Amino acid sequence: MKAKPKVISVVGARPQFIKLAPLAKELSHRFRHRIVHTGQHFDNNMSGVFFKQLRLPRPYFNLGISGGTHGAMTGRMLARVEKVLLRERPDLVLVYGDTNSTLAGALAAAKLAIPVGHIEAGMRSFVTDMPEEINRKLVDHVSEILFCPTPVSVKNLKAEGIKKRIVYSGDVIYELLKASRPAITDNRKALKKLGVREREYLLLTVHRAATVDSEKNLRVLIDIISELPWPTLFPVHPRARKRLKQFKLWRELSQIDRLFLIEPLSYLDTLTAARYAYAVLTDSGGLQKEALFLGTPVLTLREETEWIETLKLGNNLVGLDKAKILKLLQVKPSVKSMVYRVKNKKPSHIIAEEIARFLKRRLSRGS
Ligand code: UD1
Repeated sequence: MKAKPKVISVVGARPQFIKLAPLAKELSHRFRHRIVHTGQHFDNNMSGVFFKQLRLPRPYFNLGISGGTHGAMTGRMLARVEKVLLRERPDLVLVYGDTNSTLAGALAAAKLAIPVGHIEAGMRSFVTDMPEEINRKLVDHVSEILFCPTPVSVKNLKAEGIKKRIVYSGDVIYELLKASRPAITDNRKALKKLGVREREYLLLTVHRAATVDSEKNLRVLIDIISELPWPTLFPVHPRARKRLKQFKLWRELSQIDRLFLIEPLSYLDTLTAARYAYAVLTDSGGLQKEALFLGTPVLTLREETEWIETLKLGNNLVGLDKAKILKLLQVKPSVKSMVYRVKNKKPSHIIAEEIARFLKRRLSRGS
């Protein structure tokens, strides 16, 4: 009997573990699926707890590469992923989202003429110097199959003249959230542990370079936080913590009344906190959607979003504008629930089927 085709997923950062979760089972049914963890995120609460809670198989390789400048990090990953690919010789490499791990995985594979599949292809903020935008564009242009979560992302790829296989798969984040909804609702007890009461607190997260790498923006953020009208849960991302300490702002922040500075939360606790919050304030791409899926108002602390469709559904782009934020929080913003789905199929199913079809064609041509 012929061995199943081999597919390697390269992941490294927290949002990628989430995107991989709904796919992992499908992929291991159909292929010899191996997970390569670059090591970009390594703390237990940024990585280990996600593998455990989302029941992801242990990574086949963990490359242990994290930190450093973008160039140094990506370069080290590129060399190490290439080594793995030369050894493993997969039939396809899957990459997820827009981080340095995505770029390194895609580039290493493309240079070895191994086809690349990109999950969450076609997302654009049109902010050309944003690190994630650079990664997304480069990865889309070296990929052979592009799995788009939304109709707008399909359009973006076509507008860039990409002629490779573009598949509207729907959104794997939505798929995971839908499957996890009962557990999220049941996990209400987490609120007690977090010290907040249903609909009487805000959930705040920031991690983007544009927000936290600027001392000026961090000062503006602290000013905003000090005037928020509700107790606020703030799980602090390692990048934000590092910058707050570097700019000597940590003490000032920690003295704000009714602000709970906590460690990053697990998938389930994050979504429970979002589900029961009065509103979510975030610069995250994933969380702005997840909160809307859960019916919680969202104030996105950026000037733009890749998830254009969310603007019609109650996503409020507020940047770091204190007056706007405080005004919106007074009149609880409305939310329309949103669904990205292709007919009644699961995105993970569409993706795995499409990969199987692609590899069948390719491998039969090669043999
Ligand atoms: C990365 C992604 C970003 C994604 C985010 C999700 C890039 C360019 N950016 O940003 O797109 O939205 O992940 O979280 O890839 N650190 C720890 N412990 C950890 C993880 C990170 O201490 O578990 C430290 C790192 O050493 C580094 C800093 O936090 O000093 C930032 O981490 P890094 O991986 O460079 O990027 P993120 O800001 O997490």
